[in-house]
Amino acid sequence: MRVLVITGAGVSAESGIPTFRGKDGYWRNLDPAKLATPEAFARDPELVWEWYRERRQRICNAQPNAAHAAIAKLARHADEFLLVTQNVDDLHARAGLPKEKMVQIHGDIFVTRCSRCSFSDAGRGGSPEPPTDRAVLQRGRLRSIAPTSENDVDLPRCPECDALMRPGVVWFGEQLDSRKVEIVENFLRRGSCDLVFVVGTTAVFGYIIDWAVQAAGRKGQLIEVNLEETPVSQFATQLVRGPAAIALPRIVDELIN
Ligand code: OAD
Repeated sequence: MRVLVITGAGVSAESGIPTFRGKDGYWRNLDPAKLATPEAFARDPELVWEWYRERRQRICNAQPNAAHAAIAKLARHADEFLLVTQNVDDLHARAGLPKEKMVQIHGDIFVTRCSRCSFSDAGRGGSPEPPTDRAVLQRGRLRSIAPTSENDVDLPRCPECDALMRPGVVWFGEQLDSRKVEIVENFLRRGSCDLVFVVGTTAVFGYIIDWAVQAAGRKGQLIEVNLEETPVSQFATQLVRGPAAIALPRIVDELIN
């Protein structure tokens, strides 16, 4: 059995992580242009870091839910498996999904990288400890330079080139990491999938729809798990309208037993 799973914020919703576009989603109250673009970071890095630090903390305090566990279980039983997640949280990994079976296509919120050169902190390196601001600064051997203004206090700087460090995520207007795209495309090139799951995403990005449709090919099943209709729905062979943490464990158990 060859399986591709694509997830979005909805898969972590039941762990208490807000989605982006839903009724309690981040983009209901916050402007993405002020928080999730390179221009926003250039204008107000302090504000952007504050938002990401708060999100890191929230993720650290959350636990993987039954949907993450079901996906990890499916991965153990599939002959070939890839998860493409748009989520920058680490809940798939903490549910036991091996890193090599997963691509975080929009990055990893626990990675801190230079906004100018290629220097990157390795993230938490598997440590379950919450990355407090201090810990992040020290673990990455980062230093905060003497503040040039009130606002500059504690912003991490690159040990190589002294530019500001930024979260290792993909912002609006930025390219996806080509090495990650390559992993997905290599997986798709090796053959179509028997099963494709698209879980908890509004699928606003064309590549998400393209990968799902391409992976299913002519014979594969494309199963959408979502509370509502999305642009993927029209291509799905099965629509499951319900919370992922309830629907996915059932589906996976039926498949495996
Ligand atoms: P969205 O917030 O756009 O969509 C969440 C989806 O999950 C919606 O379609 C909901 O109906 C669905 N949903 C919510 N709760 C659910 C549950 N319990 N079970 C199943 N489905 C549920 O999040 P994404 O599609 O992940 O990108 O957003 C895609 C990207 O847009 C994010 O990665 C982020 C964002 O801006 C960047 O920042 C680049």
